[in-house]
Amino acid sequence: MSRLGRHDFEKYGDIFVLTPDSVCISNPGDIRALLANPTTAKSKYYNILRFTGIDNTVSTQDIELANARHRQIGPFFKPTYLAKMEGIIMKHGIESIKAKWDRAIAESAQGVAEVNYCNDFLFAAFDIIATLVYGQQIDELKTAQWIDTTLTYIGIRSMVQLVFPFIRPLDSRYNQLSNYIYNSINQRREHLASGQPKPADLLQAFIDAEDPESKVQMSHDQIHGECMLMMMAGSDTTSHTISWTVHLLMLYPHHYQRAVDEVYGKFPHTITYSDCRAHLPFIEACIFESLRLAPVTGGLLPRIAPKGGIYIQNHFIPEGTTIFVNLAVANHHPAYWQNPHEFNPLRFIENSDLKHNVLTFSHGRRTCPGKNLAMWEMTTILANIIKDYHLQLPPDITHLGPHILNKYGYPRQMDSQQYIVVKPVDAQRDCRILISKR
Ligand code: HEM
Repeated sequence: MSRLGRHDFEKYGDIFVLTPDSVCISNPGDIRALLANPTTAKSKYYNILRFTGIDNTVSTQDIELANARHRQIGPFFKPTYLAKMEGIIMKHGIESIKAKWDRAIAESAQGVAEVNYCNDFLFAAFDIIATLVYGQQIDELKTAQWIDTTLTYIGIRSMVQLVFPFIRPLDSRYNQLSNYIYNSINQRREHLASGQPKPADLLQAFIDAEDPESKVQMSHDQIHGECMLMMMAGSDTTSHTISWTVHLLMLYPHHYQRAVDEVYGKFPHTITYSDCRAHLPFIEACIFESLRLAPVTGGLLPRIAPKGGIYIQNHFIPEGTTIFVNLAVANHHPAYWQNPHEFNPLRFIENSDLKHNVLTFSHGRRTCPGKNLAMWEMTTILANIIKDYHLQLPPDITHLGPHILNKYGYPRQMDSQQYIVVKPVDAQRDCRILISKR
């Protein structure tokens, strides 16, 4: 699995100079301290995430604006508001996957169907976020193409500015997504003006969002920018994490069996998020372990050393230096994790405090505000598919399996690539699975 900076960490350790004006850090303690520092700003690199030309929550380097935006949107990602969106999350998430999988099984010859879980989780995540952001359901394929294109567009833009003229064709889908969101905001305002009840979704959340300190609300353009951001930040990340979790469970059959034992025969109904939180610690631990071992946000987060500079492990980092935070290495750091390359969800059952050292959602003031929503989607989807279906690797997948080991002596994971998020190189080949009803 190619994760950025691992070789450099193995060669140079917790902190090293990357370029004349940047360093890279990988120690979870150092990372937490840096990200928790209220004077640490993001670097200019984040300008590429200004999808609409103006700053949004993820792109802004202005610490005050970021704080205000977190105060504005934070309450809508708390469990109380998310509970109001539960119907949408369940309908477009697990219920839609189950309908698709049940159909595939019904159409199969012997009650065993082959599905591609990476595609199915992606569509479900796209569909959930699109419905929450547009305020209405829309063709999932269209949304998926729009988001995928936009992420590709940003990825290319960030890597090779010179090929800009050649990526113009991607503009059109990007513009369609942008226009659709613009119109959705207008439609919602008309809906509200006509005196109809307020729906509970992210579109409404951003219209209502108010900074409790300044009482400032977002402008139309800012709401539009936030909606675009949520589509990008909240789809691939969530769906690929579920895919990595299923993949890892197939490679570690004893953990898969333990997950089955936790849910099988215990829930006559669709497992809800409150069921997960109250009764399914192992399923949750599997997700944390997947976030740790195969972090979808496995890249380097660039930050700027604050005014006056800072010390990291006795090294003085002058003000203005770019500090690259290496999340993937932090999640495998040998001083923090026993057998870091093993998929072992039990580590979180034995010591649930370890969850705080999983940095895949980042940490501190700029931590991911969508974490609760992501956990809601991921746990309900994972728990219910494990409850309702037998999952098995197809026999023709011979290059992956519990007995095909990597250099650390653990089952080899499918190849991955980093393109904003870390995703499988060949999902069409590697994310196939046989399903049958339990
Ligand atoms: C498994 C799922 C997810 C993971 C692993 C994840 C991870 C992250 C990480 C690492 C960051 C920090 C990025 C940086 O500083 O460069 C971040 C920021 C952010 N995420 Fe997530 N995320 C997930 C799901 C979501 C969802 C579902 C949403 C919303 C619908 C969301 C919205 C955001 C936003 C708005 C930010 C910007 C916060 C800021 O910069 O202040 N994320 N996420």
